[in-house]
Amino acid sequence: MKIKISLLLAASNASRFRTFATCSLLCSSFLASAQAQTAPQLGKAPLKEVIAALTPEEKVKLVVGMGFYPAGFPEGILPPSDPEDRKVPEKIPGAAGRTHAIARLGIPSLTLSDGPAGVRIDPIRGGDSTKTYYATAFPVATLLASSWDTTLVRKVGVAFGSEVRDFGIDVLLAPGMNIHRNPLGGRNFEYYSEDPVVAGNIAAAMVNGIESNGVGTSVKHFAVNNQEFNRMQLNSKVSERALREIYLKGFQIVVRKAQPWTVMSSYNLVNGTYTSQSRDLLTTLLRGEWGFKGLVMTDWYGGKNPVAQLQAGNDLLMPGTTAQTQAVLAALKSGQLTTAQIDANVARVLTLVLQSPTFKGLKYTSQPNLKADAAVARQAAAESMVLLRNEGKTLPLAAGRKVALFGNTSYNLIAGGTGSGDVNRAYTISIAQGLTNAGLIVNAPLTQAYGQYIKGEKAKLPKTKGLLDPAPVIAEMPVDASLLTQQSQAADVALVTIGRSAGEGGDRKVENDFTLSAAEQALLKQVATAFHAQGKKMVVVLNVGGVIEVASWRDQADAILLAWQPGQEGGNAVADVLRGTVAPSGKLATTFPAKYDDVPYSKDFPGRLLASTGQASGNSLTGAPSENTYEEGIYVGYRYYNTFQVKPAYEFGYGLSYTTFAYSNLKLSAPTFAGKMTATVTVTNNGPVAGKEVVQLYLTAPSGKLEKPESELKGFAKTGLLQPSQSQTLTFSLTTADLASFDTATSSWVADAGTYKVKVGASSLNIKQTASFAVPKALVAEKAHKLLAPQAPITEMKLSQK
Ligand code: BGC
Repeated sequence: MKIKISLLLAASNASRFRTFATCSLLCSSFLASAQAQTAPQLGKAPLKEVIAALTPEEKVKLVVGMGFYPAGFPEGILPPSDPEDRKVPEKIPGAAGRTHAIARLGIPSLTLSDGPAGVRIDPIRGGDSTKTYYATAFPVATLLASSWDTTLVRKVGVAFGSEVRDFGIDVLLAPGMNIHRNPLGGRNFEYYSEDPVVAGNIAAAMVNGIESNGVGTSVKHFAVNNQEFNRMQLNSKVSERALREIYLKGFQIVVRKAQPWTVMSSYNLVNGTYTSQSRDLLTTLLRGEWGFKGLVMTDWYGGKNPVAQLQAGNDLLMPGTTAQTQAVLAALKSGQLTTAQIDANVARVLTLVLQSPTFKGLKYTSQPNLKADAAVARQAAAESMVLLRNEGKTLPLAAGRKVALFGNTSYNLIAGGTGSGDVNRAYTISIAQGLTNAGLIVNAPLTQAYGQYIKGEKAKLPKTKGLLDPAPVIAEMPVDASLLTQQSQAADVALVTIGRSAGEGGDRKVENDFTLSAAEQALLKQVATAFHAQGKKMVVVLNVGGVIEVASWRDQADAILLAWQPGQEGGNAVADVLRGTVAPSGKLATTFPAKYDDVPYSKDFPGRLLASTGQASGNSLTGAPSENTYEEGIYVGYRYYNTFQVKPAYEFGYGLSYTTFAYSNLKLSAPTFAGKMTATVTVTNNGPVAGKEVVQLYLTAPSGKLEKPESELKGFAKTGLLQPSQSQTLTFSLTTADLASFDTATSSWVADAGTYKVKVGASSLNIKQTASFAVPKALVAEKAHKLLAPQAPITEMKLSQK
């Protein structure tokens, strides 16, 4: 009985507790909802009211990200973020960053993810491999730019952006579009070109394609981030003219033509100021002069002073640290950071949130159409590869030909670069597989030998320490003499692939990277000798992310196909071109110099440590104070080679086809320039097979007050697929801005008076048609601000040094 009573008591206590608990839950949720009803909600109340309702702490949360805990980084290596943030489960594992939510005002957290060649997220979640989250590895940026085809790049962007959307990501941290200043730049594969007109137009097509899916992009790294060496503390010293004409112009084009949702400032300093702390760059120029409407975020852990970053107009500090939170809050409380300033930053964060798929509540499947996107990746790769050499019509190869495949990367294709530009893809089609798929016969004994060798070497590789510590490339397999003889007798043709990998965190080297290794040179020589002795040919495929040396060995090759790093469908795309299913139509958007020493100021790349600080070279997360002076000024890439008559191995704009094209009838709309002009030219396929031609318009300006390069690209277009004898007329337009150079003395863009020569051609050195027009009186295209001036005058290369 006693027991019964106590049980009853316990039960009634429990029910009382339940009643109390229910009441307090109800009451507090009633209170919360009452509060929520009174608190202005994002998207419902005017933005101003939402901002006014934020506490200082909440404002700081909105401008500082939620931290970053990538797999493979031991705890403690990266600066900690708010420990509380760690408890919030990641929406998309493997994404690069998140913004804070403020639930009471209806502000959700956004997810940001890399990167330039495909969505970079973890393919497996929580150890459950029954469901995967692979993304398509599209071809790298350098390859896409070689298409010179904005329609094609937009199509890649549309497919790419559909994966961003389908994975529930709000902003893609791409495209990258820094200038290829030097072939050794470790991230050149993530960037498009040495020329800002190509980079800007290709990037604009990419942004427009991606954003057509209702997701955002972050155009990066703004600006002058042309190397990896000490990237967190490197000061790039550049003249205002070179900045405006070369390093900033591509970004200006992308802002004008695509108005991206966001821009990512870079790690480096320009003329003494971190780009993320430069109001000149982020506010006066980007927003003021160019009319950028979106948000600026830092690169991950970029810059030093979070308050200066916000004041500069860098609205979001990514990925966010506790130290930043504390510093910004303290500055806000002390008045060092004004409420008006942080409100402006917050307004841009909230405008981004309002645009985002997360805010709009868009449902996502996490299952993009990988099959359809792979087809786009393959088409883009095949249509952008550059045929560098094709002696005696070595290519295309007929079906059924027996191919002896040499080179590790024939079997182990390098789909893309490393670091944040890498993509977790479901598969990579090797060249061996691609050729087999296309009906060519790949010789088995060689395949077996390489298979065994690669497996053995891979097993010996050290375990990588994460994103910025990629596995080294396997050394080239020495080929046994008897196997070689047997192959040269059995096969119809030899194919040798040379591969290179690079990526974030380090620049490339001259030896065994820009130049071929001794093993690679030996392989080419052996194979060429053995096959030529049998009257058979050797084709070389370059599976590289950046420029390499070709002049010393190319004569041994009958054909050279520059396949770049062609993404996961690379092997199929290489086969499409080798077989002639797709006629090659890519052209170089970056010069292949004859030798490394020909690159202007190559010896000074990537810069020097500032010894005065006594600090040894830092790693890619810290860096050490360093600087690099851009002494070549505006003479970057072909602007240098063509002006100073340094003959490259393959010039800017170069590329062969399986057909040929005739150019005719270049016509200008008027003999005298009156603010606008059009040029038309007719291109005819006068060869044997269907093909597309990239047509380039260069302008040679009169020498007036300012020095001018020999010529500069002002426009480009690609024909449709022209059948033999078919013609197409292309139209280019020129405005005053296209004629103008930046005059530092007057801070304005000026087109000198005189005669301008229009040169339309198949490359920067292969001009097919010319015409001239007059500018009777100098024209000012635009007045600009005086900004970003070097701390001390820079001695730049001059025409008189020719
Ligand atoms: C890279 C950026 C990248 C970011 C997030 C940085 O180290 O420089 O390009 O978007 O990390 O992964």
